[in-house]
Amino acid sequence: MCGIVGYYGKNEKKEIVIEGLRELEYRGYDSAGIAIMDKEELCHFKAVGKLSNLETKMSDFHSQGAGVAIGHTRWATHGKPTELNAHPHLGEYSFVVHNGIIENYKELKEQLQSQGASFVSQTDTEVIVHLFESHQNRLKNPFAAFEATIKELRGAYAILLITKAQSDTIFFAKHGSPMLLGFNTDEIFFASSDTAIIGKATEVYYLQDGQYGAIEGGAVKLFDTHGSKTFVRQKLSADKAMAQKEGYRFFMEKEIYEQSTVMGDTLMGRVMDNGIAFDEIDTTLLEGIEDIKICACGTSYHSAMVGAYLLERLAKIKTSVEIASEFRYKEPLLTPNTLFVTISQSGETADTLEALKMAKKAGLRSLSICNVDNSSIVRESDAAILTRAGIEKGVASTKAFATQVMVLWMFTLFVAKQRHTIDNEKLQQELSAILQTPTALKFNDTLHAKINRLSKRYLHGHGFFFIGRDIFYPLALEGALKLKEISYLHAEGYPAGEMKHGPIALADSELFTIALMPQTMQYEKIKSNVEELSARDATILAISPLPFELADDFIQTTHANHPMLEFFEMMVVTQLLALEVAIRLGNDVDMPRNLAKSVTVE
Ligand code: M6R
Repeated sequence: MCGIVGYYGKNEKKEIVIEGLRELEYRGYDSAGIAIMDKEELCHFKAVGKLSNLETKMSDFHSQGAGVAIGHTRWATHGKPTELNAHPHLGEYSFVVHNGIIENYKELKEQLQSQGASFVSQTDTEVIVHLFESHQNRLKNPFAAFEATIKELRGAYAILLITKAQSDTIFFAKHGSPMLLGFNTDEIFFASSDTAIIGKATEVYYLQDGQYGAIEGGAVKLFDTHGSKTFVRQKLSADKAMAQKEGYRFFMEKEIYEQSTVMGDTLMGRVMDNGIAFDEIDTTLLEGIEDIKICACGTSYHSAMVGAYLLERLAKIKTSVEIASEFRYKEPLLTPNTLFVTISQSGETADTLEALKMAKKAGLRSLSICNVDNSSIVRESDAAILTRAGIEKGVASTKAFATQVMVLWMFTLFVAKQRHTIDNEKLQQELSAILQTPTALKFNDTLHAKINRLSKRYLHGHGFFFIGRDIFYPLALEGALKLKEISYLHAEGYPAGEMKHGPIALADSELFTIALMPQTMQYEKIKSNVEELSARDATILAISPLPFELADDFIQTTHANHPMLEFFEMMVVTQLLALEVAIRLGNDVDMPRNLAKSVTVE
């Protein structure tokens, strides 16, 4: 995650960098730092915790004249949130800020240490600055040294580097982590997201993966592996809210599109060759645990249900799921060998928080899966795994749900390995499917346009049934919740096999059935359930990789080889359907009536 800001110009550099970092603070706030080249002197400041701590520390500092500055707000991946681990990282005469993960940092570090470099942090980032200086000492050419450095890095990065060896320059590189350049008449900005420079820059260029270069004497030198590049700036909106939406009509739409990228953040540093690593938890969390209880509300409850299927199937551990508002008053029987897991996007949901307090009081060990660090639920829990979805602004949860499900899937494998319930072949299949998920979440304009066209046929009727089996049953519940939250149409999620036990009585042409028909999970069973509905004249929208002749409408998904990949692809389809129906009905998708993003009341 992490946020990066850079500045080249003659205005007060401290203010510009801090203001930019404030806009990016949601990306990480366990520490922050700034390095400024001030009158040929490299000054730097770092502070643990929120940005306000850094501001206090710098209150007496003011930069003067033209120069360069880089800043960073950190979300720790390697090493604890300490000042030494905070960016910018210093070599002998240069500073670097970085977002991403340098996968080969251990090899590079050993090599640099053997040449005499001394490291002070536990981060992967520090290798960049030492590597740069080792090349610079040899080549005596900062641009060539930076280029040589970039060529040796493996992994994901957005990097800014400043050095006394060329004090009026910012070197930059991007590969897999976001970075852009902003411009006005005589200033140049860098940032991880354009919100950091809105109101300051009038034009922007979004760097592409593999691009690197330098700002020298006010001019941009841009390169990629094929050599020097020209680039075209585009106008940057002055409207912060519009720019934050990056051209999408609603935040929810943007967040649906973002899912592939944020999933990369959720996986970062956690998927290893031989299993799943969670820095946040240690193996003692599971010692003596005989069963798991997962407690949540709304969308988070639906991800909990998916988690329960996965945990029982792969980790062979008894898992139950509770709606928090019910759990609180049912006088539940709690035993200390149960791990109590809460799931929450906001970390502030009152029912979930109170349920957690009850479980703790009963002596249960607790784990939260949450999107907001330092939230009440995270603070109350013995351990927490963050979902890393980034800020979710749309009230209807999308990317938070996707990342919750992913964390539960990874947690399942973590537990399964510890309990020896998974063999290596199966584990490798699961890890490989996990790594394919960001791709499964990508979709093209054709699919979106098709759903937009289809949506006009689904604006009336006396109700929607979303149906699915197994993990696609909670997905059906979630699809129905999304639709009702933002379209205000009545929708229910049902296990497909249950329709004949009552709800099928509603079937007629005005009953819309959204059928989740994955190829890899009970296809024949769900097909018969849908045939039963079709025979009663229900209108069927089938979502499947396999053509289904009884469907009135059909959205074809990919022939994936793992149910979870089908799950994520179908999830996107249901989200887009809800979005397009709601937009056609003229509703405020981001702020639907009667709802709030964080439900802090009972
Ligand atoms: O912040 P939480 O995940 O604890 O919130 C729980 C529910 O209020 C939330 O998921 C709600 O159902 C969303 N609006 C769903 O889109």
